[in-house]
Amino acid sequence: MDNGSGLSQTTENTVKNTQSPYLLDISRISRVFDKPRETLFSRKETIIALQDISFRIPRRSIVGLVGETGSGKTTLGRIVMRLIDPTSGTILYNGQDLTALRKEPLRRMRKHFQMVFQDPYSSLDPRMTVRSILEEPLSAHNMLPPSKEETQALGDLLTRVGLRPSDLDRLPKEFSGGGRQRIGIARAIALKPELLVADEPIASLDVSIGAQIINLFSSLNEEDRMTLLFISHDLSVIRYLTDYVVILYRGLKVESGPTKSVFAQPFHPYSKQLLSSLSGEPQQMAARESREKEQPLLLPLCPFYDQCPEREPICRTDPPPVRLGDAGLTDLWPRDMACHKPL
Ligand SMILES: Nc1ncnc2c1ncn2[C@@H]1O[C@H](COP(=O)(O)OP(=O)(O)O)[C@@H](O)[C@H]1O
Ligand code: SF4
Ligand SMILES: [Mg+2]
Repeated sequence: MDNGSGLSQTTENTVKNTQSPYLLDISRISRVFDKPRETLFSRKETIIALQDISFRIPRRSIVGLVGETGSGKTTLGRIVMRLIDPTSGTILYNGQDLTALRKEPLRRMRKHFQMVFQDPYSSLDPRMTVRSILEEPLSAHNMLPPSKEETQALGDLLTRVGLRPSDLDRLPKEFSGGGRQRIGIARAIALKPELLVADEPIASLDVSIGAQIINLFSSLNEEDRMTLLFISHDLSVIRYLTDYVVILYRGLKVESGPTKSVFAQPFHPYSKQLLSSLSGEPQQMAARESREKEQPLLLPLCPFYDQCPEREPICRTDPPPVRLGDAGLTDLWPRDMACHKPL
């Protein structure tokens, strides 16, 4: 499939695998960080950024990863990109275990998955022209077009992301925030990746520019058939853009499923609270006084316990089970949630 970049056929890097409808299988991923010590003598403490996260990404779909700040979205995106290692768990990409790959095999594999970062200011080297920024990944993977075709190919790539071929010899500082994000996207799609991970790509842009960038992601999915893992805390963008959604809360996957279905009827008490902000009907959260005289929990059971208006005695003693919704025969992604309540 031509992505309009004009790059030669040799850049076609789709890994054929007709066995599974899923491009990525994220299985039981956990990640623990050491907490920065406040003083030299403070005790060593850890943060569980992600706990036992599993979901599968259907090919050519857009999956939204949503949750408040600190819920683990960036950590998961970086683990999928293999920029950091998980503490445990595996990620199968086209059936191949990414987490087991080291150095050269990993480097070769990287062209299939690329990342767009939140901050287009710091993710581009200010001293490099747009041309050099785009040449870099192509050159690293021996995919630079022959020199007489290069300007045309890179110009086509810029056109694809809504910039002009004449922008090739400009510096990032000569562009607005939206323009810089388009350069970041051009760099990410130069290798025609199968998977694009975008971490809050419009968070630093104003609304109308953000909307154009969202449409660009949508067309990369529809026309160039890229699979997207789209990280955002913006619920309206997630609802508009994505096919499936994963809701994180304090490092746990609390609920997931087809976006339309989850937004129409969230089941998990946290999702209900989160999504009610979209309908303009904020629920009465914390209606139950969380400072009731209770024994402190000994184990990290449900992380939403303190705020949950639907909690039961069992929530204090047993970790929330994962409940699966009925899957139709054609469902690639049945509803699920982690809660003692029935789905
Ligand atoms: N390199 C790191 N060292 C220590 N803690 C980290 C590191 N990266 C992330 N964390 C912690 O992990 C948790 C999840 O962070 P992050 O993935 O950035 O969340 P989000 O992207 O949803 O805001 C936070 O508590 C954060 O402070
Ligand atoms: S497990 Fe219990 S406390 Fe946690 S969200 Fe479900 S009902 Fe609320
Ligand atoms: Mg983040």
